[in-house]
This record gives sequence, structure tokens and C-alpha cells, in this order.
Amino acid sequence: MYNSKITGLGKYVPENVVTNDDLSQLMDTNDEWIQERTGIKERRHIKKGDGNSTAKMGAKAAEIAIKRAGLTNNDIDMIVFATLSPDYYFPGCGVQVQHLMGMDTIPALDVRNQCSGFIYALATADQFIKSGMYKNVLIIGSENHSGGLDFTTRGRSVSVIFGDGAGAAVLSREEDTSKGVLSSHLHSQGEHALELSLKGPSTEQWVPELIENNPQENIPYYPYMNGQFVFKNAVVRFSEVIMEGLEKNNLNVTDIDMLIPHQANLRISQFVQKKFKLTEDQVFNNIQKYGNTTAASIPIALTEAWENGKIKEGDTVVLAAFGSGFTWASSIIKW
Ligand code: ACO
Repeated sequence: MYNSKITGLGKYVPENVVTNDDLSQLMDTNDEWIQERTGIKERRHIKKGDGNSTAKMGAKAAEIAIKRAGLTNNDIDMIVFATLSPDYYFPGCGVQVQHLMGMDTIPALDVRNQCSGFIYALATADQFIKSGMYKNVLIIGSENHSGGLDFTTRGRSVSVIFGDGAGAAVLSREEDTSKGVLSSHLHSQGEHALELSLKGPSTEQWVPELIENNPQENIPYYPYMNGQFVFKNAVVRFSEVIMEGLEKNNLNVTDIDMLIPHQANLRISQFVQKKFKLTEDQVFNNIQKYGNTTAASIPIALTEAWENGKIKEGDTVVLAAFGSGFTWASSIIKW
């Protein structure tokens, strides 16, 4: 029996900083509303011509993670790439990373689980390592949201929340089964699939039908989010899935050294923190700087927490996410 453990972490965000005041030049919004409802002060957006894409940002984060793991690209046995904003409808971003990084013809798998994507990717990689099939798996979460958001007043309740960026981790074989990824807990509830979704173009509505069937001012190729419904479900599922992970490992809330919640909305993280009576030092948030980067948010936050010395060997680290699908998930890690 093996466990898997994170041996390297990396992040990459585009240089272009977009503040709330910048957005208020494009739509009817303001810094006070955005900060009060979401905690976000600024986010990064890819700029046309800056050489970034979902796969390219993922590769940049991966390069750092592989180096920090003390490995080379040739040591990676598999890529698992989580995103809701792939560069192409198909193929996925994983194969692009395999090519961009000059890797051997290793398997590359894309995960389509939105905000929970990184934990689903981690759980998948963990199983390949636990089974003994692979030794080192590269997991990436990366998003280019800015290219697909409605930056007019019509889209303001969604477009102010999301940002671009990428995070990556190398998961490696660990012989000591008391260390590394102890367990992961994955859930879905497709009943609410359309409450946070991008409905078109799709096989249900290709481009000509989209244009024909919808009023010009409401063509559904921008994301739709039933914000309050998502919020209410998020706080319940976050709490449930964290408890599920702790109970599985005979741990208590007081055993958490670091909780890295998916950076959906600072209010959601604060709700969870309060509910579990966690201190500021036990929860890491950086949504203020990057907005919600969906599949990238956990690996970006985890990387930053680690870079800032907030995670030490032996710590109990909890990852938790909730998002579109609905899907939600947690991982309990002994660092
Ligand atoms: N600027 C100014 N006013 C705005 C903006 C904006 N950007 N967006 C909406 N408003 C207005 C609305 O039009 C509405 O005005 P009205 O009262 O005149 O109709 C008012 O503000 C309140 O709008 P609500 O949508 O009711 O605001 P709410 O308090 O629900 O906050 C928000 C919206 C921030 C989206 C909240 O519902 C939320 O955080 N939901 C959770 C969503 C989330 O976290 N999603 C991400 C998780 S899933 C994932 O990561 C993919």
C-alpha cells in the first residue's frame, strides 16, 4: 500500500491587474458593492497578446511545481487537468500541457468539475498512485474566465467575481501511509446543474439555434448563476464535506492546522470559519487579490499559503470546494 503526497506546488497569474474601479468604468458597479458582497478587491485578466491561455498558464504553474518537487518533466507519469474554460471545446488542456512541456507520450486527462475540479483531480491522481500504477502525477487547475464574461451591466453579478490564473501540484508516491492524502470525499447533485452554468453553445443549442431562439440582448453564451441559491447550498455543503473528511480520519475541527477553502466568495469562507470556530490563522483566503479562479483557486491558495510558511510538515491540511454541477468535495492531507 502507498499513499500520495504533494511534493511540489506552483502558481501563475497574468500580470494584468483589474481593480473594482476598473470594472466600474465598464459597467454600473462600484468598489464598495463588490467588496461588501464578495471581499474581492482586484483580479487578474489575461490581456490579448500576452501569450497566455488556460493551457499555457497551467504549464507555467506546472513548471514551478515540478522544479520544487525536485523532479524533471520526464519524471511525470500522468497529467490531470481541471478547468471549465479549456482553450478548445475539444481536445482538453491536458494534452496541450504534455506537448508544451515536451513530455513523453504520458496519459493526459481533463476533469470537468468546475470549482471542485482541483479536488476531483487530486482524488483521481491519488488513486492512480495508491494503486501502484504511477509514481508522480501532475495536477493542474487553470482558468481563463475573462475571455468569456459579459462586462456590461447585464452581466455584473457574475463578471465581477471571476479571475484568471493557474495552480499546479505534483503528487508523488509516499511509502508512509500515515502521511500525505489521507482521504478525499466527492459529491454531485445534477438536479441543480443549470443553476450555475453556461448553456450555449452546446449540443442542445448550436450557434445558429442560439442566435435564432434567443433575444439579441440575452444570448446564453455567458455564464448564468443563481447567486443566492448557490450561496445557500455552498455554506451547507462546505460544512458537510469538511465534517465528513474529519470524521473519516477520527479528527476534530480543532485538529485543522490549515483550511484552504475554494475561493468562491469571502463571505462563504467567513461563514465556514465562524461555524467551525476557526481562527484567522487556520483559514487561508486570497480571493481579495485574485477573485474566484474556479479550478485554479485551491492550488493558487495552497501554493501561496505554503510559500508564506503557513503550512509545515506534520500539519493537517483540509481542502474543500463547492460549485457548479453542483459538485462538492474535500481532501484531508497530513503534510
Ligand atoms: N454591482 C452593483 N450592483 C450589483 C452587482 C454589481 N456587480 N451585481 C448585482 N447587483 C445588484 C443587483 O442587480 C441587485 O439589485 P436590485 O436589488 O436593484 O435588484 C442587488 O445588487 C442585489 O443583488 P443580488 O444578486 O441579490 O445580490 P447578492 O447579495 O445575492 O450578492 C452574489 C450577489 C455576490 C453573487 C451572491 O449571491 C453570492 O456570492 N452568491 C454565491 C455565488 C458564488 O459564490 N459563486 C461562486 C461559487 S461557485 C463557483 O465558484 C463557480
